[in-house]
Amino acid sequence: MEEWYNAIETAETAEKLEEIRIAVFGKKGVLAAEFEKMKTAPNDQKAGIAKELNIHKGKLTGLFSERKAVLQTLELERAMKAEAIDVTLYSPTSQRGALHPVMETMDRIVDYFAAMNFAVKTGPMVEDDFHNFEALNLPKYHPARDMQDTFYFKDEMLLRTHTSPVQIRTMMSHKPPIRMIAPGAVFRRDYDLTHTPMFHQVEGLLVDKEGKVSFANLKFILEDFLRYMFGDVEVRFRPSFFPFTEPSAEVDISCIFCGGDGCRVCSKTGWLEVLGCGIVDPNVFEAVGYKNVSGYAFGLGVERFAMLIHRIGDLRSLFEGDIRLLEQFK
Ligand code: PHE
Repeated sequence: MEEWYNAIETAETAEKLEEIRIAVFGKKGVLAAEFEKMKTAPNDQKAGIAKELNIHKGKLTGLFSERKAVLQTLELERAMKAEAIDVTLYSPTSQRGALHPVMETMDRIVDYFAAMNFAVKTGPMVEDDFHNFEALNLPKYHPARDMQDTFYFKDEMLLRTHTSPVQIRTMMSHKPPIRMIAPGAVFRRDYDLTHTPMFHQVEGLLVDKEGKVSFANLKFILEDFLRYMFGDVEVRFRPSFFPFTEPSAEVDISCIFCGGDGCRVCSKTGWLEVLGCGIVDPNVFEAVGYKNVSGYAFGLGVERFAMLIHRIGDLRSLFEGDIRLLEQFK
């Protein structure tokens, strides 16, 4: 028996151990043979021999399963080593990416308004006439529609020209109060140094009970926001016109390039236009079925912010996918 103890303990492979298992525990194995022999032993010795054999059997079984576990672990370790990938190996093609400057700017804008408790809402890029124009106090054939050159599909469908339709959708599916922003891509038939057919907007809307929302509220949040984005700048509100707000204003910051002295970027005015805003026109509330409410709205172009922050001269370069431009924003 001793030799088998030794054999089990020193078995090097699972196959070798399996051979030993058959030789020891198998039908024709050593243990079976010893039990067979016992049958021919004198009766008074049988019990003693059986007891001894059972002790051997127990010990051998224990040793066997111990060895089996050890071999399995070794096998697993071997397999893992063989399949291991060295992630620290240098690869000449691996490069670290970065967010596109437009997305990075969008994230910063969204972060500000999210911190101010504005919910982030999205909507379809292919819109219908009602949500993009009609409900925003832009009736059919009204000349104000010319402010936005539009890509049309059949059946009065179009690529949204601003994210304002998301605000219409939100008001039509939620009761006031509303405190939301709508970030996303918008489309217009425009192409020059500062315009691309696709660009990004973040528009905001706040609605509460009548008399609770004032121009002063709007002024405060936009000034605070613009200083968050551009640092210590002067902020100026200029009367303007949008069909969906009344009164409306365009918002300028003091030129971040010349500090307001006048330079090429600000066309010697000392100011940069960055936002449109106003108090929501009652016609818009009527279109969505809101009564006895007041609200403010604002809208901005993300690319314009990115161009100012990163001092990019030609907006089109942001969308050409030239890796040499993008690498500068890592
Ligand atoms: N929707 C306007 C645009 O795209 C921006 C805007 C939004 C202006 C809300 C005022 C109020 O030009």
